[in-house]
Amino acid sequence: MRALVLLHLATACSQMCFRGKIYTMPIIELQEVSKLYGFGDATTVALDEVSLTIEAGEFVAIMGPSGSGKSTLMNIIGLLDRPTHGNYKLNGRQVERLRPNRQARARRDTIGFVFQSFNLLPKLNVLDNVALPLAYKGMSQTRRHKRAAEILDRIGLADREYFMPRQLSGGQAQRVAIARALINNPNIIIADEPTGNLDSASSRLVMELLSDVHKAGNTILMVTHNPELTRYASRVVFMHDGVVIADEKSTVGEVHELLRRSMYFMPKKTEEDDLAGVSALMQAIPEKLTGKKKAAKDKKKPKTSKGRYKANSSSRKRGKK
Ligand SMILES: Nc1ncnc2c1ncn2[C@@H]1O[C@H](COP(=O)(O)OP(=O)(O)OP(=O)(O)O)[C@@H](O)[C@H]1O
Ligand SMILES: [Mg+2]
Repeated sequence: MRALVLLHLATACSQMCFRGKIYTMPIIELQEVSKLYGFGDATTVALDEVSLTIEAGEFVAIMGPSGSGKSTLMNIIGLLDRPTHGNYKLNGRQVERLRPNRQARARRDTIGFVFQSFNLLPKLNVLDNVALPLAYKGMSQTRRHKRAAEILDRIGLADREYFMPRQLSGGQAQRVAIARALINNPNIIIADEPTGNLDSASSRLVMELLSDVHKAGNTILMVTHNPELTRYASRVVFMHDGVVIADEKSTVGEVHELLRRSMYFMPKKTEEDDLAGVSALMQAIPEKLTGKKKAAKDKKKPKTSKGRYKANSSSRKRGKK
């Protein structure tokens, strides 16, 4: 509980108070961010001039087909990777060219990560896994364990403190990973397909935990292939071919309108079900956004005049001939 109160306070600092009114300011600002992999004819444009502003306290679901650049975007926002071009401001501070140790500090203090494959260290018990990020801050083991135990208690896993990761169910492992992401009191949580390996009951528990973290005032960025999960989000960003093709407000508690129209209301149990959701998504979007899609395609024309890079939608992977 204390951890969530602290998280809330941290978020409040990113809001500006003026004469009793609260004005949120962007916590994340990307300006024309591109990410290119490889060289010459084998260049892949993973992100193509993406501009995105996220305010403190938003819950953003990021959707799009495989290879559309969602994880690349998360890695850049999470300071795990650098953009090839473009600017990135985190909490109002330009961060894309910070030295690695400064980037690591900004990342540690601001961002918690949750991955599809949990990424728990197999040789550490649950308590030590959760407490691990505090070791990098030089905190004593007693204090680390006390903090980790508080968070585990809060998420209902106090009785699993001394279990090893292999003794946990998938849902429990992911909740432990979320506890670890929360331990440094970050105000941004980046979750890349957090329920990708979970059955629907475990997914619900994990999503409810993320939703609690959001309600405590934190910013959540979550990649998902499952349209059902947009009901937890306040905004849905759709990506395709490294471009944001739609960016829409969403009502928390409801599946986003674009997805509701075409998705199948069946319990999602398998990966195939999720992929069916993605196909439904891709059918739904062009209808509404033909104009934007065209604009996105236009942006992919060769840019030799700027001397930056050449790429278009048909030649993104020119190595593949
Ligand atoms: N390290 C890398 N080297 C070369 N190409 C890469 C690298 N990482 C990603 N890519 C390419 O960048 C593009 C975007 O990849 P990314 O992992 O961001 O997609 P994604 O939307 O997260 O897909 P998925 O839903 O399958 O996780 C893909 O074409 C991928 O092959
Ligand atoms: Mg991915």
